[in-house]
Amino acid sequence: MKIDVFTLFPEWFEWFAAQRHVANVLASGSRLELVNPRDHTPLSGRQVDDTPFGGGAGMVLRVDVLDAALRARYGIDPVQLRERRRVIALAPGGRMLDDELVDELAAEPELTLLCGRYEGFDERIVEHFAGDVISIGRYVLSGGELAAMVLCDAVLRKLPGALGHADSAAEESFSAALGGDPEYPHYTRPAEYRGWRVPEVLLSGHHEQIAAWRRERSRERGAGEDRGPAAS
Ligand code: ADE
Repeated sequence: MKIDVFTLFPEWFEWFAAQRHVANVLASGSRLELVNPRDHTPLSGRQVDDTPFGGGAGMVLRVDVLDAALRARYGIDPVQLRERRRVIALAPGGRMLDDELVDELAAEPELTLLCGRYEGFDERIVEHFAGDVISIGRYVLSGGELAAMVLCDAVLRKLPGALGHADSAAEESFSAALGGDPEYPHYTRPAEYRGWRVPEVLLSGHHEQIAAWRRERSRERGAGEDRGPAAS
């Protein structure tokens, strides 16, 4: 998996890339590369944004700047680029990131993530350069960087080598293995603490009973959960 992130704050990702599970996938051949549109702007003074037409607070990332940055990186017109590669703009109003979408993205060989800042993107970036717009929730962050990290974290941990145990990502919350339900509860030593006992079945060594108990707990959690409106 190769992920390019277009951001005005590439240094934010240094910490992220250094975290163990991310460093593990990067060491096994995946790549996370940062492109700063400021390095490619055709405008003077390293300008990348401008005031919105029609007035209003904040600044908007310019379409000509993103055009130049994408061309510098890929050597083709960004309008064609999105036919060849998944180009994703991060924005609060986009398609909600969930486990199904994460699986879909984890199956891609390459991703390009565009982080907006301030008031976001000139809409022509979204219309003409991005194939998808993805949101991590219906709230507004000060930019797309944290959303891009959330997306990268969720995608990269699905890849071989990210987690210590090969099965760790298969049977976790919202996975197909759990029928889309949240994960069952986990317990570890001590088996009793302040009178709180771990469920006996987990100490029994009966694998089938343990599996059935977990499935049931998972179903219960799923039934009690407000999943919100169906994703469109
Ligand atoms: N940029 C700002 N807020 C965001 C959000 N909630 N999701 C994705 N990108 C964003």
